[in-house]
Amino acid sequence: MSYLLKNMHRNHTSIATFPISVASSTNVSCSIQRFSVAPMLNWTDRHCRFFLRQFSRRALLYTEIITTETVLFGKVDYLAYNEAEHPLAIQLGGSDPDTLAHCSRIAQARGYDEINFNVGCPSDRMRNNCSGAYLMAEKLRVAECIAAMRTAASIPVTIKTRIGIDEQDSYAFLCEFIDTVSRCGGCDTFIIHARKAWLSGLNPRENRKIPPLNYDRVYHLKQDFPELTLEINGGIKTLSDARRHLQQLDGVMIGREAYQNPGILSQVDSELFGETDPLPNQTAAVTTMLPYIEQELSRGTTLGNITRHMLGLFRGMPGARQWRRYLSKHAYRPGAGPEVVSAALSSIQISTIN
Ligand SMILES: Cc1cc2nc3c(=O)[nH]c(=O)nc-3n(C[C@H](O)[C@H](O)[C@H](O)COP(=O)(O)O)c2cc1C
Repeated sequence: MSYLLKNMHRNHTSIATFPISVASSTNVSCSIQRFSVAPMLNWTDRHCRFFLRQFSRRALLYTEIITTETVLFGKVDYLAYNEAEHPLAIQLGGSDPDTLAHCSRIAQARGYDEINFNVGCPSDRMRNNCSGAYLMAEKLRVAECIAAMRTAASIPVTIKTRIGIDEQDSYAFLCEFIDTVSRCGGCDTFIIHARKAWLSGLNPRENRKIPPLNYDRVYHLKQDFPELTLEINGGIKTLSDARRHLQQLDGVMIGREAYQNPGILSQVDSELFGETDPLPNQTAAVTTMLPYIEQELSRGTTLGNITRHMLGLFRGMPGARQWRRYLSKHAYRPGAGPEVVSAALSSIQISTIN
């Protein structure tokens, strides 16, 4: 059965408006429209995003999931960000079309470049108001939500979803979901975490490991929906993995590896987007963080809340452990400031010389 749909009206706006072909160092040519760092709750906060931005100008960065209640009633302004973080997408969680439309209007007014709708989070909190991955069973509602968000905001509205949920994991189920949401909701860009979610019995952490990844299913989807922009996510650890996916798909999203080993991002602009302007190396990135840290501390942020995102900076390099240890030991002490970060850097420079 072919799910190829003809004569549909779709909004074809996206951050990068045309694909770029890149002949990589491995001589495999790929075409890229999107490269992003995944939304990750408690990880990709604004400090993390400012830090990650040091390594790539082109990667699209995402907020953590922000529920509509948090947008409207949150005690802290979770929508705050630094201008340097652009291009930046906000990820919204919710299930009421009017409320999502209202929050989309707010997100656009706050200057976000894209709004992403979460249809993939398997947590119990999502179960309670039938949002996140639970919404995969409600394709018409997802279409309604997306249509309302697209009417409310003129910036691109995208979806991050899974390849299935529980026993609803056939290829036909996935196609019907994508078909309905793209045709009735007008969504033209999907980020697909290539594993299904088990909604009962597994917690969110287990749901990022246990059901096996199925990349072929996402490749197949692109063949059946060639007019859609499809970005793949799940288990991607290197840029050569990314290039392999880009031979079949339009984009790649990396989550845990980008957070735990941010150095991987430093090759993205040159390797995937063919850019020639050099970006700072790890040491220079630390230096750029110092004035940011100073400014944030003067506003009441504590050092550990920033440096916790920087622990993986030297992963795989000499001094990595020393860097992590120094920051973990000193950044949470009362009054700790940027000098702790400078000292951590000096400590690894000394330890690698000795
Ligand atoms: C700590 C953590 C928090 C996450 N929070 C979110 C979230 O807020 N929204 C979301 O769509 N996915 C969330 N995810 C899932 C990731 O976006 C991504 O889909 C998943 O980690 C698979 O990609 P990876 O193998 O590249 O990490 C989270 C993942 C982690 C590790």
